[in-house]
Amino acid sequence: MLRTHTCGELNLDNLGEHVVISGWLTQKREMGPMVFLILSDRYGMTQVFVSDPVLAESAKKLTLESVVSVSGTVIDRKENRTDKYSTGAIEVEADKITLMNPSKPLPFDFRKDAADTIKLKYRYIDIRKSDIRKNLISRSKVSALVHEYFDSLDFVEVETPFLIKSSPGGARDFLVPSRLWPGSFYALPQSPQVFKQILMVAGMDKYYQVAKCFRDEALRADRQPEFTQIDFEMSFVEEEDVMGVTEGLLCKIFKAVKNLDIKRPFRKMSFNEAMDKYGSDKPDLRFGMELKTLDAIFANSEFAAFKNAANDSKMVVKGVVLEGHAKDLSKNQIKKIEKDVQGDGAKALAWIKKEEGALDSPLMKFFNDDEKAKLAEIIPENGIMFIVADKTGVALTALGNLRKRLAAEYNLYDKNSYEFVWITNFPAFEVDEETGEWVAKHHAFTDFDFEAAKRGDDLGTINSRAYDIVINGYEAGGGSIRIHNTDKQKEVFKFLGISDEEAKENFGYLVEALEFGAPPHGGLALGFDRLMMLLNNTDAIRDVIAFPKTTSATCLMTQAPAPVTEKQLKELCIKTEKNDSNR
Ligand code: AMO
Repeated sequence: MLRTHTCGELNLDNLGEHVVISGWLTQKREMGPMVFLILSDRYGMTQVFVSDPVLAESAKKLTLESVVSVSGTVIDRKENRTDKYSTGAIEVEADKITLMNPSKPLPFDFRKDAADTIKLKYRYIDIRKSDIRKNLISRSKVSALVHEYFDSLDFVEVETPFLIKSSPGGARDFLVPSRLWPGSFYALPQSPQVFKQILMVAGMDKYYQVAKCFRDEALRADRQPEFTQIDFEMSFVEEEDVMGVTEGLLCKIFKAVKNLDIKRPFRKMSFNEAMDKYGSDKPDLRFGMELKTLDAIFANSEFAAFKNAANDSKMVVKGVVLEGHAKDLSKNQIKKIEKDVQGDGAKALAWIKKEEGALDSPLMKFFNDDEKAKLAEIIPENGIMFIVADKTGVALTALGNLRKRLAAEYNLYDKNSYEFVWITNFPAFEVDEETGEWVAKHHAFTDFDFEAAKRGDDLGTINSRAYDIVINGYEAGGGSIRIHNTDKQKEVFKFLGISDEEAKENFGYLVEALEFGAPPHGGLALGFDRLMMLLNNTDAIRDVIAFPKTTSATCLMTQAPAPVTEKQLKELCIKTEKNDSNR
């Protein structure tokens, strides 16, 4: 038997038992002729006491992190008991020590902050030695809860394919060449969206899946090229039904993992309100700091930049106030804040502070008494307001980001609290920054105010039936009520400038399916990785993924992506122009 107990299991109830434990040797202390070892595994750690001189000599030669098995008797540590770990009252007095596999010295010192590149290359050591193992275990428990929850509500888990047809829109697809059909490619799914809708046409009524998704898009701390969604779809539902199922799941998870009772129904906020007050469609509501609209104050300002923006319908003058720090902010700190805001695209940053009742700003000479009085009302004592006058989108994003940075820097919220909010009434369409063309903001199958579109209202003002669930400033999930009628779906393609041929070529099977009795339906997908990030209080998505990619989409452990052999390329009838094998 290689073990009778794990390294986290033995206690005073086991005194006198003869046991076998196995694990990694994580500590070795020599005390004269005796040796104390600590064996560790996923479950905990156990002290081993080696008193026999011959055994002790061999124990001294063991290298740390070797895999070792010890058989011996459980004895009381008496006055040396510790409650720092679960087995701290006992130790195992060894009668046999077996070296199962020696370890070389580890490539990095896990007690110090090693470079990410080396930790990712030796991911298995990082998992063994850091919180990542704990995160993976909690991920597994949440996954079990998800299955239990949906099963209890009669949802059916259906696996949808990984090798699918590429379709335009959304992020870039990852493509997989076909050997049997040279020159043709599969795409890896960006989400199971179309399949789950087709399952509704198929009468499955309630579908769910913990689904892998693949998107070739710019990566960030909360984005991976392959990630996991908790995806579901339901028939005969409206927004409230889908929100109810989502809230039920989140409440169950936060209760189980965090022992938190989240109040239902969650708060709702329109997209416009979120943008206006927080400069973001994923507002962090753990703190206030609502943005102030200053157009009315500066409509007749002598300061041209403010006056022009205040009177231009595409521009805005907005501010955000940091309370209690006007006195201790140095000029250099303000300069740094200005640089960050400019990094977000704003042309400039102005500031006004109030100290001992008096306003102070490099722009003071431009303000008249009326403006000064109104500013003094908004800015509290020892507060500083940062102002951006710019194109509306630019000003909102820049101030929204500044709001978040200031709150984090000045510890303005409880890092262990959670604020949930539904963002609703999204615009159905937006202009693609690269092409300048109208595209669906959520996706082309999301229902929206069809009458307004037919009336010819400005596409930018038409609301969709999409909703996002936002937790602590992260978009944790998104979904919508779908279009279930072919004619309407075809109209959308028209609005988006997608020709009949293009629509048929790319989405023909969905449009056709809608013609064979599609029920009203809707759904949502939670980003499982992002949810685990939030539950584990980390802001790096890779801390909750066993084998993540770097921000340049490489796996440092396996060296993927990598060139393939000429033979493989030939089979696929592929010639490459570039060979980055020296990457
Ligand atoms: P959406 O594109 O909003 O919706 O994705 C749903 C959720 O998935 C997470 N997510 C990501 N997580 C990590 N890395 C990424 N690259 C990444 N991209 C998205 C986010 C996001 O909220 N089919 C629709 C859902 C629906 O309409 O039912 C969809 O995929 O948390």
